[in-house]
Amino acid sequence: MAKRVGFATRLGAIAAAVGSAVGLGNIWRFPFEAGQNGGGAFILVYIICILVMGIPVILSEFIIGRSTHSNMKSALKQLSPGKKYYLFTYICILGSFIVIGFYSVVCGWILEYLYQAAQGNLSGHTPQEYNDMFSALVDSPWRCVGWTLLFLVFNFLVMSRGIEKGIERVASVMMPLLFLILLVFCINSLLLPGASRGLKFLFSPDFSQLTLRGVLDAFGQAFLSLSIGISCLVTYSSYFKDDTSLAKDATTVAVLDTLVAILSGVMIFPAVFSFGVEPTAGPRLIFEVLPGIFQQMTGGYLWALLFFLLVFFASLTSTISLSEIPITFMIEEHKMSRPRAIAWTALFTVVLAVLASLSFNVLEDVKLFCMNIFDLMDYSASIIFMLLGGLFTAVYVGWILDRKVVHDQLTNGGRLKGAMEPYLIFCLRYVAPVSIFFIFLYLTGII
Ligand code: PHE
Repeated sequence: MAKRVGFATRLGAIAAAVGSAVGLGNIWRFPFEAGQNGGGAFILVYIICILVMGIPVILSEFIIGRSTHSNMKSALKQLSPGKKYYLFTYICILGSFIVIGFYSVVCGWILEYLYQAAQGNLSGHTPQEYNDMFSALVDSPWRCVGWTLLFLVFNFLVMSRGIEKGIERVASVMMPLLFLILLVFCINSLLLPGASRGLKFLFSPDFSQLTLRGVLDAFGQAFLSLSIGISCLVTYSSYFKDDTSLAKDATTVAVLDTLVAILSGVMIFPAVFSFGVEPTAGPRLIFEVLPGIFQQMTGGYLWALLFFLLVFFASLTSTISLSEIPITFMIEEHKMSRPRAIAWTALFTVVLAVLASLSFNVLEDVKLFCMNIFDLMDYSASIIFMLLGGLFTAVYVGWILDRKVVHDQLTNGGRLKGAMEPYLIFCLRYVAPVSIFFIFLYLTGII
């Protein structure tokens, strides 16, 4: 068994979990999902989902991870000896590959924009030109694949150095910085002409725009953004110390993650309305809108550079946590050396990422269930793997796991109050299964 080294400080452990949670899900995906699903109404459903499912499932993953200090498979074997629940781990591993597959394509786009920002090419254009700039990138298989692979090189370089100190340090510095920069961009965006229309779109719910699919998307978005459902936080919390308050940490991660998502909305939507971009533009939204904000700012060149650099780091702290799921699993369960586990993980990731990159150009006509490969990976990751995975975790901790383990973990063996326990159990036992039921009805076309 590989030697387990924990996070050095409580702050470092939180920063790493927040680093995993805060990423493209907040800055890139949240604004465009909100844009496509009616703005304020989507955000309201999203926040409800964070409260009744997000925080309880984060806590459940923390309970499984910290009570056993092991990866998901051996944790489930220890907690339920003789039972087959551990098989769920394979779904988590598959899910983590699919997320990192489509995710690294967007990270590749971020790298290209970072490069363009460094070249000074992001200023002095019309909205249409920004539109064309993004189209030219995704239409070119070489550029798309090239940037994605370059991103993966960075990712696996970090992994190969070992991550214990790396993640903790990078995340502790980058996360507060990202937060500050986002605030500056929000202020700039709010000063644009017509900013109030963006705020109205974002904060006054128009339920006529919200479909059942939108509600499902809000749930999937919450799970993707919080990094739950594929055992990522089980892996991280297995390195937590025994005296941290899990309830406090879970709430901190959820609150900070949601704050970054909403700030990203405040940064994007006033500009969307001010520049006349369609809020429903989908995955290309931030790439068409952000350069317009940069060029309105004094020192726009530097801001653009700083922004993409930070988004790059935010996405790296997320992909690191994603790749750590299969890597820890292969090392601990299949007795592989770290370099070998990294090599296998890199191989699978590259295949999926290249397929996802090509789905915008060479493979754009390859469709399944009316979706291209990228959308299919994005949808199946957030809706099938993460959402259903999260619900499995909820049902497992709510109904199956010995209550004593839950109580011990929440109270640190009786030293803390554990006031959240009744709320946690209620959400896990009832809210989660009822939601599964409705999602199942929806997916099977019954409603
Ligand atoms: N939560 C990350 C984001 O919002 C994505 C992620 C999903 C990271 C699952 C790790 C595990 O960008």
